[in-house]
Amino acid sequence: MRKKIIAGNWKMNLDINESKQLIENIKNSEFDKDKEVIIFPPYVFLQLAEEELKDTDIRLGAQNLCQYDDGAYTGEVSAKMLKALGVDSVLVGHSERRTIFSENDQVINTKVKQGLENGLRVVLCLGESEDIREEAKHEDFVREQILKGLDKIEAKIGQLIIAYEPIWAIGTGKTCDPKDAEKMCKFIRDQLASLYGQEFAEKTRILYGGSVKPENAKELLEKENIDGALVGGASLDSKKFLDIINYEV
Ligand code: 13P
Repeated sequence: MRKKIIAGNWKMNLDINESKQLIENIKNSEFDKDKEVIIFPPYVFLQLAEEELKDTDIRLGAQNLCQYDDGAYTGEVSAKMLKALGVDSVLVGHSERRTIFSENDQVINTKVKQGLENGLRVVLCLGESEDIREEAKHEDFVREQILKGLDKIEAKIGQLIIAYEPIWAIGTGKTCDPKDAEKMCKFIRDQLASLYGQEFAEKTRILYGGSVKPENAKELLEKENIDGALVGGASLDSKKFLDIINYEV
C-alpha cells in the first residue's frame, strides 16, 4: 500500500505572519495521520517553518534548488543548504520553472541529481500544455520529460516522487478528468517500471496536481494510481488544505 501524500506548494504567496498562521492552523488541527503531509513554503520562510514543524509529522519541502554544489551563484540556494535547514523534499521541474524561468530538461536532470545526492527526496514535476493534449501527444511528451529528467539518475526506492501536473489545469480551476489523470499516472508508472524495474514503480508515489480542491479531491485520490495531490491555491487556506487531507473522513 502506498501512503498518500498531500503536499502544499505555496508558490510565491503569503507574508511571514500569514505563513506562521497557516502552519499553526494546520498543525493544531485534527487530520488524518494515515496521510503524509508536506508543505513547500518560499525559501525565506523555511527556517520559520522548520521551527514550527519540529514536533510534528508534517514534512518540510523547498520549491527549488540550485543545480550547482556551491560557489559564485548569486541568488541561488544549494541542496546542501536546504538539507542542513531540515528540508526533506524538493520540487524539481515545476511547469512554472520550466516555462517562466526557462529551465530545460538538462538543468532539471542536474537538479534531480543534486537533490538525491544530498539526501533530499525529489518531487519531479511533469505535464503537458493544452496544445499538446489537444494534439493527443501528451504521452509522448511526458515520456520525453521522464527520460530526459531521469537520464543517468540512480534513484533508490522512496527517494523519488513524481507529480503529474498538466499545465492547462494549474491555477485555472480546470481539473483534469480523474479518469484521464489516472491514465497518465498509470502511464508514468509504466515508464518508471521500464527504467527502474517493477518493484520501484510499484512503490513510487505519483501525485496529481492542477486545481485540486476539497470538492474534487476524493474522486481523484481514490484512483488506484494517484498516490496523492500537489496542491497550489487551495493549500494557502488551512480549511481547504485540511479538507483535502481528510478527503476520506
Ligand atoms: P493549483 O492547485 O493552484 O492549480 O496549482 C497546482 C500546482 O502548480 C502545484 O504545484
